[in-house]
Amino acid sequence: MTLTKNKPRTIKATKALEGATVYLRKIVLFDVNANYHRWMNDSQVIQYLEVRHSRRNLKDLREYVSGVIESKDEIFFAICLNDNGRHIGNIKLGPINRAHGFAYIGFLIGEREFWGQGIATEAVGAVTRYAFEVLGLHKVLAGCYANNDGSLRVFQKCGFKREGVQESQWLCEGKYVNGILLAKINPLHKK
Ligand SMILES: CC(C)(COP(=O)(O)OP(=O)(O)OC[C@H]1O[C@@H](n2cnc3c(N)ncnc32)[C@H](O)[C@@H]1OP(=O)(O)O)[C@@H](O)C(=O)NCCC(=O)NCCS
Repeated sequence: MTLTKNKPRTIKATKALEGATVYLRKIVLFDVNANYHRWMNDSQVIQYLEVRHSRRNLKDLREYVSGVIESKDEIFFAICLNDNGRHIGNIKLGPINRAHGFAYIGFLIGEREFWGQGIATEAVGAVTRYAFEVLGLHKVLAGCYANNDGSLRVFQKCGFKREGVQESQWLCEGKYVNGILLAKINPLHKK
């Protein structure tokens, strides 16, 4: 993906990162629509996400997204198809810890018909590079349920390493599962 620091005015022009299949642009409140609401109430999409424990009507979702947009410590991107601009998922960098130069990453592809096409890998790779090359961060971290095979594979493909296991951390569909902590260090900062 091509990286740019520009902050253009229109949704079309706010592309921050462009890749082979998708581009990323900053989320706007207008994106929190019926489709977004559907993703957040799709049991398969939220199966491994903490959002499933929150209230997820449109008003609540807008309040949440509004807070993230206003936050100086979080950057929330819409994942959109290059072909037609369709918004199919989200990826968030944050909270960003500027004192230590690290940030957390989280993502979802809400439109399940686009699962298995390499899109999450493209998006995670792009945002991680953005964190390193544009923001100059030292490290990007993530947490993942141990049974979220798709997510673990995405991180592995993007060069994240397992840093630790949180034993029996998350209650997922009636069973406690381990949490996996993953991270990637800025390759430009390695000796
Ligand atoms: C997990 C998720 C992001 C994967 O997105 P995706 O765009 O389908 O992922 P990709 O196509 O980039 O797949 C990357 C790799 O993971 C594999 N993979 C994807 N989903 C998988 C699954 N459910 N089980 C096993 N492997 C899976 C792919 O086969 C691919 O591996 P390969 O290249 O060796 O064939 C998507 O399923 C999703 O949004 N899930 C709900 C939200 C979520 O769990 N987010 C992550 C929170 S930590």
